[in-house]
Amino acid sequence: MQQQLASAQQRIEEQLLSALASLKLADQRLADAMQYGLLNGGKRLRPFLAYATAEALGGEWQQADVAACALEMVHSYSLVHDDLPAMDDDDLRRGKPTCHVAFDEATAILAGDGLLTAAFEVLAGAPTSDPQRLTLIRLLAQSAGGAGMVAGQAIDLNHVGKSMTLAELENMHRHKTGALILAAVEMGAYSVSATLDDKIAAALRTYAEAIGLAFQVQDDILDIESDTETLGKAQGADVALNKPTYPALLGLDGAKQKARELVEQAQQALGALPGDSSTLAALAQYIIERDH
Ligand code: IPE
Ligand code: IPE
Ligand code: MG
Ligand code: MG
Ligand code: MG
Repeated sequence: MQQQLASAQQRIEEQLLSALASLKLADQRLADAMQYGLLNGGKRLRPFLAYATAEALGGEWQQADVAACALEMVHSYSLVHDDLPAMDDDDLRRGKPTCHVAFDEATAILAGDGLLTAAFEVLAGAPTSDPQRLTLIRLLAQSAGGAGMVAGQAIDLNHVGKSMTLAELENMHRHKTGALILAAVEMGAYSVSATLDDKIAAALRTYAEAIGLAFQVQDDILDIESDTETLGKAQGADVALNKPTYPALLGLDGAKQKARELVEQAQQALGALPGDSSTLAALAQYIIERDH
């Protein structure tokens, strides 16, 4: 699994570099900030999910390259904006100064805008059938926008210092983090196939929703348990901002238990898939065992 993750990371770094080079960016400082936000050592889990899902449906990683690039561009833009002073106001990301610290706020906003837009330019060139390409574009737009991640960020920021029920917290996490993770799985699937059997689609959704939630639960746990150097971002940032999190609501042990249950649910769903889903199973486990 670590080896496969490393191969996925190496593959996506190359893909992202060539995708950026193809964009004909017309301002050097903007281009530098976009590259800084994108090519700065993320774990690349969303690309890996897209690759592993393509594999679980009997496809090749290569078929999911474009989807993987677009997903990581959207994810990286979301982090550049998430760190801005108007949002989480963080100085450290992926072990380096955040984009607005390394450049300036306006440039970081524009770099995020540029990466988000680039994702759709890249998808428009996906080497798939036309219906597949449209599906990929729709899935990414729905998951990233006001029905997905952006709504999750809005809910997050509207609840700083306020209490939340468990159902509200779960709803926030499903939008903030879950939506793009679900898109990663679905885009991996639609990169290799124009249509999906209902049973397969349902299994993929169950898997993705469970690991998406588990991913953010673990992110919240790491904010408490890890350290800044390992995390590559400031430890204790949620507590400092009084953010609503799983550990805040369930306690640390309750949050860990929840994460384990979600991974079990995810792994059970994989039985319905036709291809080799061992990578997806290992990936689910990694999500709650990761230390950063
Ligand atoms: C961090 O995502 C933000 C969340 C959605 C919780 P990752 O933990 O995937 O960050 P990188 O891409 O590896 O830096
Ligand atoms: C961010 O969630 C989720 C995004 C959509 C970017 P967090 O604010 O918890 O992410 P970190 O902890 O800063 O990486
Ligand atoms: Mg945030
Ligand atoms: Mg943040
Ligand atoms: Mg966090």
